[in-house]
Amino acid sequence: MRRKLLVTTCIYMSTFAVMMYVGVYNHLQTTMDLKNSSSEQNDSPDSATLYQTHQHRVPDNNIHIIMATDLKNFAGAPVVINSLLRNTGVPEKIRIHFVVCGESIESMKQYLQCHDLDIPPDMIEMVTFDSSILDPDIVKLWEHSYYIPRLKSSCNYARAYFYRLFPEVSKAIYLDMDLVVDAPIEDLWSEASSLTAPFLAVKNNHGFEQEGFRVDVVSKLYQKRYHRTFNKTATIFNCGVFVIDLDYYRSHRIVSEVEFWLKMNARFPENGKLWMWDAQAIIQLLFHKNWQPIDRKWNIEYLGAPGVLMTEGRRRRLGNGGILHWTGDFKPFLPNGLNKEFWEVHQPGQCSGHGECSRNEDSEVAEYWICKCQRRYTGRFCEDDK
Ligand SMILES: *[C@@H]1O[C@H](CO)[C@@H](O)[C@H](O)[C@H]1NC(C)=O
Ligand SMILES: *[C@@H]1O[C@H](CO)[C@@H](O)[C@H](O)[C@H]1NC(C)=O
Repeated sequence: MRRKLLVTTCIYMSTFAVMMYVGVYNHLQTTMDLKNSSSEQNDSPDSATLYQTHQHRVPDNNIHIIMATDLKNFAGAPVVINSLLRNTGVPEKIRIHFVVCGESIESMKQYLQCHDLDIPPDMIEMVTFDSSILDPDIVKLWEHSYYIPRLKSSCNYARAYFYRLFPEVSKAIYLDMDLVVDAPIEDLWSEASSLTAPFLAVKNNHGFEQEGFRVDVVSKLYQKRYHRTFNKTATIFNCGVFVIDLDYYRSHRIVSEVEFWLKMNARFPENGKLWMWDAQAIIQLLFHKNWQPIDRKWNIEYLGAPGVLMTEGRRRRLGNGGILHWTGDFKPFLPNGLNKEFWEVHQPGQCSGHGECSRNEDSEVAEYWICKCQRRYTGRFCEDDK
């Protein structure tokens, strides 16, 4: 039986509270160096092992997509990949770089196969991320930075290390695991090519304060480190979908700024932390006044948030193509998920349509996922029992 070619994924981080759209426009400044290189080398934990030598690379014609997931969000992967691949007109250009957090690559491969996704090996590259590749002191800082225990996942901070996990990638679109790509991803890629900032995302119309930043402290630290003003009222972006210039990240050693903010965050335990949510906060600081917005359709939020009215207008917008994102607690792959009809249309079959993909609890074997076949079907993927 022919197995459909599809794929998916994304990690979510994003937003927890339901927020309303408020039309505030952000005044943007483009490409500015984040780091004043003449200043304070000594103020950051500076783990030299994190630096990757900046390599000169030949630009390619491919569209690079980064996705990441831990076991908890595996269920998103087949749908994200499937939606992406069925909507692109240039599958030959798609290069998926997949980070598997705290779980083996083999497990993710089997999971995709178990979901009838047979992705050519030159289209997908997988790496594992687990915090043992980091300096233990840095890991401690990351762990400390999580205000909400349920958001604790090494995957949430894997994003700071893409430059290192994928040394040959210059620029990439990042996708969370709780979204569907309902438009040709090459359109986003070409929109991104016309912009110059090292970070591109959809403006989310909240300010720093609404996102739980302690702006008084943050703005002082920011000013001191970068010698430029922190704009407390600037709007921020959602990190479920973004385009990142990894060469910029390397050449400006952004990872040392990540470490700087982690360290600062750990320094203020007595008064509460510098931000309330998760690793997304650091990305907001790293690219403050150094990002540009992409079309809103590339991250249509709150499909996983209760209380967002499904008006005719919203339904039309969701049907108009773009990226639909289940920001909120009610992820579409959970039993209590919301707006599942937009998700299920991209759900690939399982086990050739004749079984159910299940976690193999027998830890003695390297079969992480097995097809539990219906009667009359057997084999690894429940082929016809001839
Ligand atoms: C700060 O951000 C606000 C909201 O985007 C904007 O209106 C204002 O001009 C910005 N201020 C500066 C100094 O850039
Ligand atoms: C960089 O830092 C130095 C020393 O702290 C300062 O004199 C200089 O003005 C800064 N440069 C920029 C561009 O902010």
